[in-house]
Amino acid sequence: MSNTKVTVILAEASLELVPPEIAHHPAVVRNARKRGKSPREVLLDISLHYAAMKKLRNRKKRGRPDIVHVTLLELLSSPLNIEGKLTTFVHTVNDYVIEIDPSARIPRNYNRFVGLMEQLLNVGKVPPDSEEPLLKAIPMTFDNLLKRLGVESIILLSEEGEVMKPEEICRESVERGEPIVIGGFPHGDFDPVIKERASIAASIYRKPLDTWVVASRVASGCERFLKIM
Ligand SMILES: C[S@@+](CC[C@H](N)C(=O)[O-])C[C@H]1O[C@@H](n2cnc3c(N)ncnc32)[C@H](O)[C@@H]1O
Repeated sequence: MSNTKVTVILAEASLELVPPEIAHHPAVVRNARKRGKSPREVLLDISLHYAAMKKLRNRKKRGRPDIVHVTLLELLSSPLNIEGKLTTFVHTVNDYVIEIDPSARIPRNYNRFVGLMEQLLNVGKVPPDSEEPLLKAIPMTFDNLLKRLGVESIILLSEEGEVMKPEEICRESVERGEPIVIGGFPHGDFDPVIKERASIAASIYRKPLDTWVVASRVASGCERFLKIM
């Protein structure tokens, strides 16, 4: 099992720049100006842009970059990642895929994380002039990410799935060669396009949990399954 790696995809993650349809809203313009930025260059954040987001399509899944922040801290700081056994992707709610070098250090401070993500989504990579960036953002649908990974199906983490232990979920992922997919959004359900890809829908607890708790339990399940800890 020495070469075994686990792939985790954070899907439909609530991370994006302010979309054009609300870029002229006074709340958005005011907040961007305060930071010396143009409205289209800043992250959409429901705690700042609540009034502007009222008419936004799919609004319940949008404007929560803090979910991605905490979840990436959990995953990238895990022994699973430190031991080189984890590959992490973020697929965003507006169809970007963020490729993450496992050695990337995500800022612990939230404001710094926001600055980094704005740079990433505006320029496409971080550091901006590197040939081998630590983070890359590419416009890509969830299905195209699966094609790129050479897989057709996934292990979907869902509170509505069959109750399974995290170790068991990890074993299925490794044996089938299928990535583990966790929703990176605050409310609601996966898009049907993603649900259709599930060979297994697995629940780790009979009630809904926050994304970062699920990510952390899955990582520790994989650590036990791979006998890292
Ligand atoms: C905050 S939940 C999504 C919103 C949730 N459906 C709700 O309306 O409260 C984020 C993600 O964590 C995962 N998740 C949450 N609870 C879970 C559970 N009990 N078992 C497995 N995965 C879970 C799912 O992948 C889900 O998409």
